[in-house]
Amino acid sequence: MTAQAQRTVLTYGTFDLFHPGHVQLLKRARELGTRLLVGLSTDEFNVLKGKKSVMGYEDRKAVLESCRYVDEVFAEEDWDQKVADVTRLGADVFVMGDDWAGKFDFVADHCNVVYLARTPGVSSTEIKQRMRVQRPADMHA
Ligand code: CTP
Repeated sequence: MTAQAQRTVLTYGTFDLFHPGHVQLLKRARELGTRLLVGLSTDEFNVLKGKKSVMGYEDRKAVLESCRYVDEVFAEEDWDQKVADVTRLGADVFVMGDDWAGKFDFVADHCNVVYLARTPGVSSTEIKQRMRVQRPADMHA
């Protein structure tokens, strides 16, 4: 493939307790280009976002890197790195789930911005809640 044919897609997130909503988001993001780069929130940045992940950064990174739709994972360390990342990485498309709709429109000065519909009914938060309330007998074998 020539350099001109390459179309780089960029997305961000915490990706804790990797689940089918993450898979669908990454699959659809990857279909918008020829390579998918993921800015993975560090544990320190998650604190700033008011999140606490069950899995630490290195474990979340290892899981993401094993996903067939993901080409590269790098650290997301603060709110303000996105435009610099788009430029540095030569991103053509910036993708987020539509829970973020409108929040990153300022990136559209630098590349295409696409908000993808979230997969209903699943989230890391929901899985954590299920694990708190479910007795072992209720869980899938
Ligand atoms: N995402 C999605 N569908 C879901 C859950 C997440 O498309 N059901 C997308 C988000 O919109 C985001 C990316 O996956 O673009 C990473 O989301 P993340 O915040 O890590 O996942 P959540 O499961 O939403 O986590 P939490 O419950 O902690 O907010």
